[in-house]
Amino acid sequence: MTTAHPSVLPCDQTPAWAELQTLHARGFDLRAAFASNPQRFAQFSLAAPYVLADLSKNLLDADIAQALNRLAEQTGLQAQRAAMFRGELVNRSEGRAVMHWLLRKPDQALANADGAATEFVAKESAEVLQTRHAMLAYAESIRQDQHITDVVNIGIGGSDLGPQMAYLALKNQATRKIRFHFVSSVDGTEMSQVFTQIKPETTLFLVASKSFTTLETMTNAHTAKAWFLAQGGRDVARHFCALTTNIQAAAEFGISTTFGFKDWVGGRYSMWSAIGLPIAIAVGTANFMNMLAGAHAMDEHFLHEPLATNVPVQLALLDIWYRNFHDFRSRSVAPYHSGLRRLQAYLQQLEMESNGKQVDQLGQPLHVATSPVIWGEPAANGQHAYFQMLHQGSDVIPVEFIVVKAPNHGLADHHTKLLANALAQSRALMLGQEDAGGHRHLPGNRPSTTLLLDELTPQSLGALVALQEHRVFASGAMWGINSFDQWGVELGKVIAKDMEQRLHTGSTEGLDSSTAALLLKLRD
Ligand code: F6P
Repeated sequence: MTTAHPSVLPCDQTPAWAELQTLHARGFDLRAAFASNPQRFAQFSLAAPYVLADLSKNLLDADIAQALNRLAEQTGLQAQRAAMFRGELVNRSEGRAVMHWLLRKPDQALANADGAATEFVAKESAEVLQTRHAMLAYAESIRQDQHITDVVNIGIGGSDLGPQMAYLALKNQATRKIRFHFVSSVDGTEMSQVFTQIKPETTLFLVASKSFTTLETMTNAHTAKAWFLAQGGRDVARHFCALTTNIQAAAEFGISTTFGFKDWVGGRYSMWSAIGLPIAIAVGTANFMNMLAGAHAMDEHFLHEPLATNVPVQLALLDIWYRNFHDFRSRSVAPYHSGLRRLQAYLQQLEMESNGKQVDQLGQPLHVATSPVIWGEPAANGQHAYFQMLHQGSDVIPVEFIVVKAPNHGLADHHTKLLANALAQSRALMLGQEDAGGHRHLPGNRPSTTLLLDELTPQSLGALVALQEHRVFASGAMWGINSFDQWGVELGKVIAKDMEQRLHTGSTEGLDSSTAALLLKLRD
């Protein structure tokens, strides 16, 4: 297997970068752009599987779009994308391939290893198919098991956010027989509240951890097992199941039912793997497969669509345009659907753990700003909270509206009002209220993207999430980042171990005065 090469030129040394600097200096007014070009929506809206992306309310014209596309070419985006889909070791710092896309291929393609670029991909395809079948058969058995009324997913980060987000998004399709609980934090409040709602004989605990070493998850898993036994629970093998790459550690913990996945699945890219078991239990095989199919359709779009009409690439280019040329430091995610209420949390990990870095793929300093801060809430609520700042605050914050045409309820009047608000907000951000003075003045010219879904289904959810994954990959690739490691989280883990010891012993030796004083107060 070959090792992927970093981008040909650092982004800020490409000719396109200089062009974009000149274009930025010209200034841009969205209102004037719409007034002078009646074709603006047609020109800047793009279709991808299950998602229509209206980019027309962005600070973008044909010259800027072309220069951005040249940036993609000059930073070697296509070669980097090809390397990922060939199964090369694009996660260089950990020496791993990056193949979450393989988890979404249809059964038939995996069985025949259709189009597999390398022997390695073909070999992994067979294993993916085997685990998929085993996991889905298990999910169906749990769905039919009249004794199981509660499933508790114990996991954190990628082993929690994806399953939880997707479960909430697809709750309408979920079995009513089983209640789902997601325990992630080491804060005992979460676990102890779940204990008050469950019984050992009717509960299935899923211990979800890629590494099977994460402190929070292992603490919760041990507590769950101790509770289970103390409550008279029998048959740990039947009531505990592990989802992990570390099969041996799961066995040592005493779990015999384990669904595995490989190290080429990043934690934040893992909801398509065994980590997705709670989703499969909730919505069943057909819906789970449809979610994979939606994501696979987006994979194909990302892989084959020309750069200029490739939605993940265009979103990534806008991210770079705003972060590096406009100096916009955050992006607000605005889903107009309550089912997407954990989407922003999911996207926070996806974007910020992937691209919140300041070195390139070789560990050398980058000279450009990277990941924006991602934040937001279901926007119907956000409008009555922080949207004030989006309209009048001193920072310009691009907003990504996610709008779903068909409701998943019968309250039509509510839905019309919801859609009206989504349309109103993007228009208000753009138009502003320039003629009003003082407190009523809204500057306008504030950019937004609208992602329009016909319905929130397993397919469209899969496509939406894969779109976001590829967008993060594309911006990371153009910045020159390895989007698949997360070394920044390690130091805190090491210090936390030391602090835990010190909280037991009271030792403050060698600590700064702030940490020492706080530690002593916590021990008082
Ligand atoms: O600490 C960060 C992290 O490693 C994430 O990348 C990951 O999703 C999460 O912790 C959980 O890791 P694991 O699935 O190995 O328990």
